[in-house]
Order: sequence, then structure tokens, then C-alpha cells
Amino acid sequence: MKRPWVRHTRAEDIANLIALQARVYPSIPPWNPRRLQEQLEVFPQGQIVAENEDGLVGCASSLIVLWDDWAEAHSWKEITGAGTFDNHNLEGRTLYGAEIFVDPNLQGQGVGHLLYEGRRTLCRVMNLKRIIACGRLPGYDAYASQMSAELYAQKVVWGDLTDPVLNFQLKEGFSYCGVMEGYIPEDHDSRGNASLIVWLNPEYDPARPTTIPENIVL
Ligand SMILES: CC(C)(COP(=O)(O)OP(=O)(O)OC[C@H]1O[C@@H](n2cnc3c(N)ncnc32)[C@H](O)[C@@H]1OP(=O)(O)O)[C@@H](O)C(=O)NCCC(=O)NCCS
Repeated sequence: MKRPWVRHTRAEDIANLIALQARVYPSIPPWNPRRLQEQLEVFPQGQIVAENEDGLVGCASSLIVLWDDWAEAHSWKEITGAGTFDNHNLEGRTLYGAEIFVDPNLQGQGVGHLLYEGRRTLCRVMNLKRIIACGRLPGYDAYASQMSAELYAQKVVWGDLTDPVLNFQLKEGFSYCGVMEGYIPEDHDSRGNASLIVWLNPEYDPARPTTIPENIVL
């Protein structure tokens, strides 16, 4: 594989990102370019892509949230302001992972890991306490007639089942915290469910404020 790297997203990436997203999720309507533009305006430091010499191969988008406002229950649409990131709040100490995807031809080759390294760098540089995300559970549909989404996810954590997204996140050092129902209702493979996951920044210093440098070296 050609060696990929990560960098911040630029406005000129938007068309290519939408084309890539359509290949990753062929059955869901693609992003609206305006939403991506808004995400870049609201929190440019939080939007990153992976690319190799042929072009874009992945993307990870994030916002900062006041986690206590969302902890009990939320859908993707609610917490991301329907993709506008208008809930982004610099008072928050939680980097929230809104989306991550990798070119289907390059999955399983370390691109997702690079993107998560990028997110961890954001957390360290900005002195954020943690990364929280709700991950799809695309393997659940095949087991939905046999067990709840919660038991399915637990069995993945216990090593008895494999899920393409939750296994990736566990490998990335995230802890599983439970299932969020109705997270993306249109996500048939996950039956709308998502796993709530967290990574704690070991370098977080509560005595220091959040810092948002203009340029962050990923
Ligand atoms: C989930 C996704 C982002 C992971 O990215 P990726 O580039 O495929 O993952 P990586 O190759 O960096 O994998 C990192 C680790 O997770 C493990 N992993 C990745 N996919 C896995 C799978 N399907 N099953 C088990 N483990 C997996 C890898 O083995 C690797 O561990 P290793 O370094 O010890 O080998 C990617 O597969 C994807 O785009 N999926 C479709 C979109 C999607 O559902 N995104 C999630 C939204 S919540």
C-alpha cells in the first residue's frame, strides 16, 4: 500500500470527501457540501483527512461538546446539530468523534489507526480530557433475532463475536460504555444502535485551560 499521512481538511477537499463517503456508505444519502463547509468554519482544527499520493483515503471529523448535556441519550443528528456542528462548545472538555471512515479498498491497513492517532494528538495539544464517540455496530443485524444489541456488544468485548467497527475501536484503546439506541435510525446494519466508547487523555491537566492553537501539527 502507498504510505498514507494525515492532515487537516481543506475546503477544496469537500467534493472528493463526498465522493469517498458515497463509496463507503453506498446506501445512505451523501453529505451536503454546505454541512462540511460549516464544520470547517466552526472547528477547522477538528477536521482531519488521511491521504496518500493518489488522493484522499479517509476522514475523521470531530467537535467539542459539553458531555453532561448529552451523556444520558442522544442521536447523531442531535449531538452534531444535523451535521452543522453548531453544538460545538469550547467550554467542553470532550472531543466528540462525529464520523470516521476509510476507503473500502484500504480498510484494515492502518489508515483508521492514523486518523485516531490524529484525534489523540488533537486531544493532547488542546488539553482535552477525553475522546467520546458512538460507533456503529454493523455486525449486529445478523444477530438481531438472537440477542439484544447490548449483549451483542458485550460478546464483542468478551471476544466471542467480532464487529468490524467495535473491534477496531477496542484495538485503538477505547473502553466500551454501553449501547445508545436510535443513534442513526437509518443505519440498518446496526439496527440504529451504536456503542458508546471513551478514550481518556493521560496527559489531561484539569488545572490548565483548553488551548486551541491555530496550527496543530498532526
Ligand atoms: C472502522 C474503520 C474506520 C477502521 O479503519 P481501518 O483503516 O479499516 O482500521 P485499521 O486498519 O487502522 O485498524 C486498526 C486496528 O483495528 C483492527 N481492526 C480493523 N478493522 C477490524 C475488523 N473488521 N475486525 C477486527 N479488527 C479490526 C485492526 O486489526 C488493527 O489492529 P492491528 O493494528 O493490531 O492490526 C473502517 O473500517 C471503515 O471506514 N469502516 C466503514 C465506515 C464505518 O463504519 N465507520 C465507523 C463509523 S462509527
